[in-house]
Amino acid sequence: MSETNLKDMQDLVSLCKRRGFIFQSSEIYGGLASCWDYGPLGVELKQNIKNTWWKAMTLRDDVVGVDASIFMHPTVWQASGHVECFNDPMVDCKQCKSRFRADKIDLAKACPVCGSSGTFTEPRDFNLMFKTQMGPVEDSSSQVYLRPETAQGIFVNFLNVQQTMRKKLPFGISQIGKAFRIEITPGNFIFRTREFEQMEMQYFIKPGTEMEWYRYWKETRMKWHLALGTSESSLRYHDHDNLAHYANAAVDIQFEFPFGFKELEGIHSRTDFDLNSHQELSGKKLQYFDPETNESYVPYVVETSIGLDRMFLSMLSSAYTEENVPDADGKDSTRVVLKFHPALAPVKCAILPLLKNNDDLTAMGRKIFDELKYHFLCQYDEKDAIGRRYRRQDAIGTPFCVTVDHQSLEDQTVTIRERDTLQQERVHMSEIRKIVEGRLEFPLVAK
Ligand code: GAP
Repeated sequence: MSETNLKDMQDLVSLCKRRGFIFQSSEIYGGLASCWDYGPLGVELKQNIKNTWWKAMTLRDDVVGVDASIFMHPTVWQASGHVECFNDPMVDCKQCKSRFRADKIDLAKACPVCGSSGTFTEPRDFNLMFKTQMGPVEDSSSQVYLRPETAQGIFVNFLNVQQTMRKKLPFGISQIGKAFRIEITPGNFIFRTREFEQMEMQYFIKPGTEMEWYRYWKETRMKWHLALGTSESSLRYHDHDNLAHYANAAVDIQFEFPFGFKELEGIHSRTDFDLNSHQELSGKKLQYFDPETNESYVPYVVETSIGLDRMFLSMLSSAYTEENVPDADGKDSTRVVLKFHPALAPVKCAILPLLKNNDDLTAMGRKIFDELKYHFLCQYDEKDAIGRRYRRQDAIGTPFCVTVDHQSLEDQTVTIRERDTLQQERVHMSEIRKIVEGRLEFPLVAK
């Protein structure tokens, strides 16, 4: 079997549209730039990624979850530094009014859009937060922001969670939710968008222990990526050269996308910056009473932060494979196959009666489908030759295909085909569920 991996992003974009993973937003109106809609298979893959992350984070005794509101009190964003520091220096072309990030273009050269030269405005800071109005009156008192990160919803709930859950340090709070940024250069499909989803965890620790926990989370997060089957060679660490205003150490886990190694996840040692600022601006104490030392202090925080959409793109990129395999007649043919970890695959099992319009095979296929459909996502398909149906399932990453044939009617056995090895095994129909479920477990990364 010779195989090649994804080279051209366009192959992936087109597969996503054809197979129902991702559509352009508002497509019938010509689309809305860098906005995307997840289709039926996309939403399953997304949910499966969330589940593996959520389980890895919360099926341990030191991390609990929250789901905070997207709108927050506007002072939150002053405390976090986003009102003052979350800016990009921008210039406008005086001729065509196009706007650019000042550090991304050569200001001595011509405008990349209209070609006129030397006509840029002076660089001005441009805040990246979306603003909107909360009340019916459009005045500054009702102005709110769409959150640019989910983390602040965790910081402001630190004491609520610690006290109601009676947590001792160190402990973490995890959250999955939407975030919004007025990105100046969105692009590369779902890699950088203005509306995206984050999976973040803030780990609250005793001051002075932050480097130990920073190293722990850096390694733990890398193990999670590897456990999902991502190859070691397509992941690497990248230390930050310029630290954000809140961090005293920061590293990215980069993934090799078709357009090069880029940030997938960030691990940041955020010190006590956020809790201290919230304490100052809210006037409320955000301290932890340490029963071991009998002192109160503001905890330090190590954060792990990953974009769900970026993780989706990385999973599609590493799963995408084109390979030569024998077809149903034993001839060489090419297939596109998404080699997802079975825990992530949108559809887990396809039920395929060998022949169409055969009442007995259809009845048996439907019976198997009805028995399995409440346990994991299945598809029933009897259209086209069996070889074409296998290819359709390969192209959406279905790990198992079950074929019902004439022998099945006699002895209740079926063939079960494994996506990656193409091996087919004859098993009793009562064994299918166990075989499939046996592969759906995602190994939790040990503490
Ligand atoms: N709370 C820390 C924080 O938000 P960040 O490095 O700005 O840190 C964390 O973002 C992660 O969120 C990134 O590693 C990336 O995966 C994702 N992310 C950030 N901006 C994004 C965007 N415009 N589109 C998609 N994902 C984005």
